[in-house]
Amino acid sequence: MNSAEQSIPVITIDGPSGAGKGSVAQSLARQLGFHLLDSGAIYRAAAVHALNCQADIEDQNAVLATFETFRPRFEPGNSDIGVQVWLDEKNITNDLRNEETASVASKIASLQAVRQALLGSQRDFQRPPGLIADGRDMGTVVFPDAKLKIFLTASAEERARRRSKQLKEKGITTTMQRLTQEIQERDTRDMTRSHAPMVAADDAITIDSSTLSIEQVVSKILGEFE
Ligand code: DC
Repeated sequence: MNSAEQSIPVITIDGPSGAGKGSVAQSLARQLGFHLLDSGAIYRAAAVHALNCQADIEDQNAVLATFETFRPRFEPGNSDIGVQVWLDEKNITNDLRNEETASVASKIASLQAVRQALLGSQRDFQRPPGLIADGRDMGTVVFPDAKLKIFLTASAEERARRRSKQLKEKGITTTMQRLTQEIQERDTRDMTRSHAPMVAADDAITIDSSTLSIEQVVSKILGEFE
């Protein structure tokens, strides 16, 4: 990283899914006028692309080969719609959120070569006036010199409750027991993988959002940033 990039402030927000990272990161980016990196969306887009290419997801070389034709395009959202993601000429924003994509993304995210291949495109998001980077290893691996590092968590039950609410709004019903189990399985895979596991950076501030609103979390982070 050169010194010009080092002077562009980055706030990293890492933690498990359902902790509220996405909403918090969007709100911070809007209030500070910063760029936004949703790194999970990059892993999800890579998963959609690997599935489209019918690659064997367990085979690191087969997944890597799909990167030669992986050209995702991210369009910043606005107050009505979130970030839009395109693969070639197709808008895949809705495909990113389904459970199959989430599960394949989690699997390919455990492959070291995949993580290495996606490093540069994530670091390219660091542009003036600043960046909010949302993910699992933003503070530990991708932006180790970030100005402020947050590790945002919430209990598995609370995260399952939030996910169930989101799914209900989309007309999808599932049991809380199944959701909690899926969340715990994904957490275990993300936390125990040998490459860039989901852990708080030594210099991160941990915030538990179980009993906090998005606004309360955002104002805590802004307080730490100023
Ligand atoms: O945040 P998300 O649910 O959209 O992430 C999708 C998957 O990608 C999830 O299993 C964790 C993985 N991921 C990762 O390993 N590193 C990141 N920086 C972001 C996401």
